[in-house]
Amino acid sequence: MMSEKTNPYTLSFGKQPPQMVSRFFETQDIIDAFKSDPPANQVYILTGVRGSGKTVTMTEIAKEMDRDKDWIIVNLTAEYDLVESLAAELGEKKELKQFFKIEGLSVSLPGITIDVKNVSPITDAKVAVSKMLRIIRKKGKKVLVTLDEASNNESVKKFAAVFQILLREELPIYLIMTGLYENIRSLQDEKSLTFLYRAPRIELPPLSMRGIAENYQKTFSLDTKKADEMAALTKGYPYAFQLLGYLTWRAGGDYGSVITEYRRYLEDYVYDKIYSEMSEKDRKVALGIAHSSTGGVEEIKNILNMKQNEWNPYRKRLLDKGIIIIPERGKVSFTLPYFAEFLMENYQE
Ligand SMILES: Nc1ncnc2c1ncn2[C@@H]1O[C@H](COP(=O)(O)OP(=O)(O)OP(=O)(O)O)[C@@H](O)[C@H]1O
Ligand SMILES: [Mg+2]
Repeated sequence: MMSEKTNPYTLSFGKQPPQMVSRFFETQDIIDAFKSDPPANQVYILTGVRGSGKTVTMTEIAKEMDRDKDWIIVNLTAEYDLVESLAAELGEKKELKQFFKIEGLSVSLPGITIDVKNVSPITDAKVAVSKMLRIIRKKGKKVLVTLDEASNNESVKKFAAVFQILLREELPIYLIMTGLYENIRSLQDEKSLTFLYRAPRIELPPLSMRGIAENYQKTFSLDTKKADEMAALTKGYPYAFQLLGYLTWRAGGDYGSVITEYRRYLEDYVYDKIYSEMSEKDRKVALGIAHSSTGGVEEIKNILNMKQNEWNPYRKRLLDKGIIIIPERGKVSFTLPYFAEFLMENYQE
C-alpha cells in the first residue's frame, strides 16, 4: 500500500487538491445552465461554511469550461478595482488580441494599453469592457468571470453594478461568485443589484460518503468496512477529508491513531474561526444541538427551553451558514465532524 512517496492529501485551502471527490452534479448543473441556448442562468453563487470547497468547486467548473474554445475564463480576486482588472485581463488574452486589433479597439487604462494609431483611446474601464464584449460576441465567444470570496464592499458592489448593465445589454458575460453566506446575503440585499437578488445560490452539501470511502479504500488498502468507518469520521466535510487522509498517510495508514491530532487540527484551523464568526445566540443554540443525544428537534427545543417560533430563525441561520443539515425530518446534524465536542469544550457564557 501507499506506493506514492509524497503525501497525496493536502491541507492548503483554495488550491486544487490532487485527491478529489467528485461534485459532478453541482458542477454539471452550472455548466449546463451556462451552455444552454439561451442560457438558463448567467450568474451562480456558491456558498458554504469555511472549508466546504467553494474555491475548489468554482475552479473545477472554470477548468471544465476552459476546455471549450468558445469560452474565455477570467479569474478575479476581490481587489481594488474589479472592472479595471477585468478589462486588463481581457486585454491580455492572446486569443482576443487579434480581434481587438482588427476591430480597431484602442484602450488606455492602468494595466492595459491597446494602441491603435489615430484613434483616441477609451479611458473608462466600463466602456472598454462593454466594447470588448461586443467584439467578443461578434466572434461567437463568451466570457466567464470567477470571483472568489465576494463580500459587500465598494469594489464588489461597483463591479456588480457594471455587470448588471452588461447583462442588460445582452452581452456574453457569465459569473460565478463564492462567499460565506452572511457576506453573500448582505450583497444580495443591496437594493440596486436586482440581478444578484435573483441569482441562484448553491449551498455546497457534504461530499459523497461513498466517494470518500472509495478514495480511502484505494489509498490505504482498507476493507470496505474500515473504509466506511474512516469516511464516517469526516462527515463528508471536504477539509476533513483532506486532513484525515493527510494525517493517516503520515501515520502509515493507521487512521485510529490520529484522531486526537485530527481534532486539534480541525479546531485550530477552522472551528476557532467559524466559532468566532457566530453570534452569542447562535453559539448557545449550537450548544443545545451538541447536547442532544438524538439530534431530534423536540429534544433540542427542550434542552434550550425554546418554543418552535424561537427555534425556527436559529435553525435557519445555522442551516444557511452550512453548519447544520437536516439529515431527516425532525432532526438536525452538524456538518462538521467533532464540532459538538468542540462546542462542549469551548463554550463559555
Ligand atoms: N471536491 C473535493 N474533494 C476533495 N477535497 C476537496 C474538495 N473540495 C474541497 N476540498 C478540500 O477542502 C479544503 C477546502 O477547500 P476550499 O479552499 O475550496 O474551501 P472554501 O469553501 O473555499 O473555504 P474558505 O471559505 O476558507 O475560502 C481544501 O483542503 C480542499 O483541498
Ligand atoms: Mg475559498
